[in-house]
Amino acid sequence: MEYRINQSAEFNGKEVTLKGWVYNKRSSGSIVFLQLRDGSGFIQGVVVRSEVDEQVFKYADKVTLESSVIVTGIVKEEKRSPTGYEIMIKDINIVSMSAEYPIGKKEHGPDFLLSHRHLWLRSKRQWAIQRVRNTIINAIFEHLNNEGYIKIDAPIFTPNACEGTTTLYPVPYLPAWKEDFDKEKISKGKYDITNSDNFPFVYLSQSGQLYIEAAIFAHGKVFDFGPTFRAEKSKTRRHLTEFWMMDAEAVFVEHAQNMKVQEKLITFIVSTVLKNNINELKILERDIKPLQQTALGDYPVISHKEAVVRLKKSNINIGERDDFGAEAETILSNQFDRPFFIEKYPKEIKAFYMKEDSEDPTRVLNSDMLAPEGYGEIIGGSQREDDYDKLLSRIREHKLNESDFQWYLDLRKYGSVPHSGFGVGLERLVSWICKLDHLRESIPFPRMMERFNP
Ligand code: 4AD
Ligand code: MG
Repeated sequence: MEYRINQSAEFNGKEVTLKGWVYNKRSSGSIVFLQLRDGSGFIQGVVVRSEVDEQVFKYADKVTLESSVIVTGIVKEEKRSPTGYEIMIKDINIVSMSAEYPIGKKEHGPDFLLSHRHLWLRSKRQWAIQRVRNTIINAIFEHLNNEGYIKIDAPIFTPNACEGTTTLYPVPYLPAWKEDFDKEKISKGKYDITNSDNFPFVYLSQSGQLYIEAAIFAHGKVFDFGPTFRAEKSKTRRHLTEFWMMDAEAVFVEHAQNMKVQEKLITFIVSTVLKNNINELKILERDIKPLQQTALGDYPVISHKEAVVRLKKSNINIGERDDFGAEAETILSNQFDRPFFIEKYPKEIKAFYMKEDSEDPTRVLNSDMLAPEGYGEIIGGSQREDDYDKLLSRIREHKLNESDFQWYLDLRKYGSVPHSGFGVGLERLVSWICKLDHLRESIPFPRMMERFNP
């Protein structure tokens, strides 16, 4: 059986071959301690001069950080090791001696680290974050499949805006297949790509929601999961220009139940992380109490109105019908010990597709789920407007191109039903669960206002 570091308990006392990298090293002259990693975990390898061939000790002594190696040794229980085990090394093969590794022990600024993201991903903290991210992704699939949802893939090139026109990424839908199309000119910037008479513009998807709304009429309960794009002008720790979203949508679900569906999902995700990733949360020095609270469910619901009152009490200058900025969200989200909902926002600050609240037609049946500990919004959701005429007038109020939305209006023409859904921002969720300072650490290769490299 192939050995990986995270199976050390099963291999206690046995000889194993470890294929991995040296991530740290300490030497005392007669013993070399090699910190090794193989993707599954981290373990200390011990090379004792008096117990190995001279050549093996020489290799251990000269091997550089981040060199790839194949080592053979005996797994041994070691109480003082964080993993509980170490390897008494007998033999070392250096697969590739690493050049001097640029990421060291000293503090690096975020810009340096982001420019070295391709290497930074290897460090312990980043390793732990991506493992938690992986658990979250799988937990979403597992839970929704268990609940009878099927995954439907929404397109990335879209003709219309889902979440308002201000954050759209236009892409010239270049007819590269046309014979008269001059690729040379494009690459030299001589082709007027702003002239949409030559070809249509499409937009990178802001959310797959509108498309999965179509799919519920075929499948009842569906979800998508994919990259979404927003030309966000904000340079905050909460905004990326490319991020991953899971949209879920279901027929005959109304506003109150929509929140219950979200609560159940987040409860499952957080319980799964607590079950599978305790080691990673330890590496991240994550206090797990708020996660344990979250796993209990029972998320409070407050109205937008009540949120405004709470903010005023905290001396925040906010109008009755304003949206919440980052500061306001942080304050509210510090007032709860688990995720909570803010429902029924003023109509004019929300998307065109949200259903009017019959008790107060100036508001909509929406909810934002905010994470505690100052993290703010992680999910946006709502009941959808299912009435043809009302939806059409909302599209007009928002000055959206009516013909682009004809297909979406059709859904209200052929067997319309009450329905609701929501979108989870994966990076927001990862950042809160791992308690990160900035979303840029939650995604392997972050794209932000001024960064799209490497
Ligand atoms: O609240 P939003 O804009 O809602 C929608 O897009 C709906 N169409 C979803 C739906 O009902 N199916 O975005 C959903 C979530 C937010 O709650 C937030 O977590 C995340 O997406 N999000 C971002 N994450 C990172 N960077 C950004 N610029 C984000 N914008 C939104
Ligand atoms: Mg939102």
